[in-house]
Amino acid sequence: MQQLHPYKGNDLCGWMYDDELEFLYNIANQMESIVEIGTFNGRSTHALISGSKVTKIYCVDPWQDQSEWLPKDTQSKAEYRYRGFLQMLKSMKAEDRVTVLRTTSVEASKLFEDKSIDMVFIDGLHELEAVQEDIECWLPKVNKLISGHDYEQMVCPDVKTVVDKKFNGKVKVCGTIWGVWL
Ligand SMILES: C[S@@+](CC[C@H](N)C(=O)[O-])C[C@H]1O[C@@H](n2cnc3c(N)ncnc32)[C@H](O)[C@@H]1O
Repeated sequence: MQQLHPYKGNDLCGWMYDDELEFLYNIANQMESIVEIGTFNGRSTHALISGSKVTKIYCVDPWQDQSEWLPKDTQSKAEYRYRGFLQMLKSMKAEDRVTVLRTTSVEASKLFEDKSIDMVFIDGLHELEAVQEDIECWLPKVNKLISGHDYEQMVCPDVKTVVDKKFNGKVKVCGTIWGVWL
């Protein structure tokens, strides 16, 4: 989608490839505000934070294990990831400009005025209805770029189906990141 500048990367566990991280690193500098849907360990967030010193970043993720069978007194993996993510923000000295919203995409979208953010990066749920819902919720909120992960991935074909139907002919791609400039 654009000329990439090198990003030294991170070794956080996640699904983003190096060229995709580099894209996020480069695009962050062009935005005043970014909402990321689906943060997990913060692999993509690290690139967004590193790419700019001033961009306001909102990280949306419920960090909630779906495994009902986990013993109640055991700290869940999601809780562990959440705490690790907060630790990462601290070590990057990024706490002031990163707002953590521990909730779902749909609930978080209600907190934002229309046209109040420059970019949204959608990497939460990947099923058809969820992707549709994310796009419908967030499109009105965005000024410049609506984007997401896992476009043209065999394991989650619904992403491409929904994105192509909604933005026919306007979709730009970097790795498996899709984006539509508004
Ligand atoms: C594929 S992972 C995100 C990967 C991350 N962007 C990275 O760079 O590694 C998907 C994340 O979406 C989160 N998630 C699940 N349901 C969600 C929802 N309704 N809204 C927002 N995030 C959700 C999960 O908790 C999980 O951490």
